[in-house]
Formats: sequence, structure tokens, C-alpha cells
Amino acid sequence: MTFPFFNGGKNRDQVFAVDLGSRTTKAVLLERRDNAFSLTRFTVQDAPIYDKAMPQGLLTEHLRAIMDNIQPKTRQVTLAIGAGDSVLRSTEMPLMPVDEMRQMLKFNSKTHLQQDLRDYIFDCYIVPPRAQKQLEPSKAGVAKYKVWVGGARRELLTTLESSVRAAGLTPSQITLSLLGPVNALEFSQPEAFNKDVVALVDMGFKSTAISILADGELCLSRSVDLGGDRLTTGLAEAMNITYAEAEGIKVGMPQEVEGHLQPLVAPLGRELRASIDFFEHQRERTVNKILISGGAARSEFLVQMLHAELGVACKAWFPTEGMNLALAPQQMTEIEQVSSVLAVAIGSAAMTVG
Ligand SMILES: Nc1ncnc2c1ncn2[C@@H]1O[C@H](COP(=O)(O)OP(=O)(O)OP(=O)(O)O)[C@@H](O)[C@H]1O
Ligand SMILES: [Mg+2]
Repeated sequence: MTFPFFNGGKNRDQVFAVDLGSRTTKAVLLERRDNAFSLTRFTVQDAPIYDKAMPQGLLTEHLRAIMDNIQPKTRQVTLAIGAGDSVLRSTEMPLMPVDEMRQMLKFNSKTHLQQDLRDYIFDCYIVPPRAQKQLEPSKAGVAKYKVWVGGARRELLTTLESSVRAAGLTPSQITLSLLGPVNALEFSQPEAFNKDVVALVDMGFKSTAISILADGELCLSRSVDLGGDRLTTGLAEAMNITYAEAEGIKVGMPQEVEGHLQPLVAPLGRELRASIDFFEHQRERTVNKILISGGAARSEFLVQMLHAELGVACKAWFPTEGMNLALAPQQMTEIEQVSSVLAVAIGSAAMTVG
């Protein structure tokens, strides 16, 4: 079986997508209503705790709990896996069918990705030629094209597939959480997606995903090992309190501990600045907007800290704002609170909608 990271099946009436975050699992159900997709259900649940690799039984049990909550009619599921479990790189390759590209990468990842990724399964997205100037022909005279390559360990994909099947589902698509916010923006705010130069920052628990888009093209994507967990751990150490106490303070009264938080947020600010500088230098365009999603986006204080750190307007964004909502009244009152953490799940579902 192949695992399309970039393009899923089309023509569905329901799309069920699950974002397997390292701290919380987010799931959404989109349903076709009058020819447009509406968000009809969502859930955010604690992710299972495990040591290194998630045991199959635990994931199956977890997926069953998610299904109980979402009650999908479809048996097909789209899963988003985290940056720790996957790679996403851009490279240049001669134009050829994607299947051939995947074979080439399988046997020669080092040449194309500068990293020996044995036992990985790859998928490729060829950036449409109109969006890129055809690159200089190589010495052999073959023009090369920009290609985004996604990859994940075969072993992980096999475990995911069997866990999903044991829960009574079919894995229609396994995608990368790094691509989630980008696809969510295209789906919910196509205008901003197509016209702006924007940095999307999804700050999660273990890591933060940084994507820079210009006129609808993904120009830069990277993941930084810095997330909410680092902030809480750092705060606990600096104040000599427990992790749980530090978490409570971070969420409940961050303004009281600004002096401790600032040096913990600064490294992320520096990573973001480096990515923006790199992009601006390469493309000669300016990033004038940073949209923040993930758990940290729930904190206006953190968003403002990043703004101060970078000097570029930072804003929490809510992918559900541009979408049709057909939620039960209870979920309708909750959606504003959780919208920004659903970015990856919504983007993964949107990718399957096509
Ligand atoms: N109001 C808040 N203020 C500050 N931080 C918050 C708030 N709400 C949640 N967080 C933080 O968000 C983090 C979890 O975010 P999220 O659910 O996006 O992570 P994840 O997707 O599970 O992780 P990853 O993407 O790294 O795998 C936690 O560290 C939590 O402390
Ligand atoms: Mg996440």
C-alpha cells in the first residue's frame, strides 16, 4: 500500500481526520452540506502516555475513544503524524512520475535529501511549474523542478496501519502535521493564502512548526524542538516549583512571571527570526504577518511576547473563522477556545477533501 502524504482521495461526503499530537490528540469531522464542507464535530483529548514508540494496542484503544466521541459514519481516516516521526524537505529533481521519484529517493535519499533515510517511505509533491521559474538545466541538460518530499519510517507506518485497522478503520491518508497549518489556511482563508507573504507558526508541546508562504507557495518549512513543554519545564526549574504548578502559572497568570518566561521564549524568537531572514534574503520579499496556532496560540500573552521578540505583527489565528460550522450548540460555544489547536486536524482533513 502507498501512503499519500500530499494528496488524498476525493469525492467524499465525510472526512474524519486525527492529529496525533505529542500532548493532545485532535480530531475533526467535516461533512459535505450543499456542496461545501462544514465542520460538524471535533474533539481534543489527552494523548496516550508511552515511553518511546506508541504500542499498537494503546493507539487502537485511543482511536476507539476518539471514534466514540466523533461518531464518524465513514470508516476512512486521515492521520497526521508529528515532526519527530517524519521529515519534510524541499529538493530539486528532474521531472518524472511521482512513483519514479519515490523509488529514486528510496535508493538514494542521501543524494537528494542530504541524509541517509533508510527504511523510510516517501511521497513527493512537485511544485507546479507556473509557480516556479524552471530551474537552470544541469550539465546533462535536464531541467530540474522544486519538489517537496515527505517521509516517515516504514516501521511506524506499519504500526499505524495495523492499529487503525484494529480499531475498525481504514487509513486513507497519512500526512505530516507540518503541512497541516498550511492546508488549513488554504482551505479556510484562500485569499490570505494566495496573496500574502505569511509565516505560520504552530507551537505545540514538543515542537514548533514554522512555514513561510508567498502567494500560495510553500517556500520554507521547518520544525524546531521547542514547545510548551520546554516553557513549563524551564519555568518549574527557574521558580523551583513542580511541573504542574508551573503549567498552572503559565496558563493562568503568565504576566506574573514574565521575567522567567522571556528567556524561555527568546530561543524560539531567534529560530523564527533566522527562518524569516533566510526567506527574505532568498526571495527578496518581506514577511509582515505571523499567524500562530497550536496550544500556545491560546495565550495572548505568549503571542505578544513573540511579537515583542520579533518586531513583526503576531496574531493567533482561528482556522474555523473562514469555515462553515454545523456544530452542536455545546461545541459551538467551545469552538473559539480550541479553534487554533485544530489547525493541523482541519488542514489534514482539507487535504483529503482536495
Ligand atoms: N492558555 C495557554 N497558555 C499557554 N500555553 C498553553 C495554553 N493552552 C495550552 N497550552 C500549551 O500548549 C501545549 C499543547 O499544545 P498542542 O496541543 O498544540 O500540542 P501537541 O499538538 O500535542 O504537540 P506537538 O505538536 O508538539 O506534537 C502544552 O504545552 C500546553 O501547556
Ligand atoms: Mg501539534
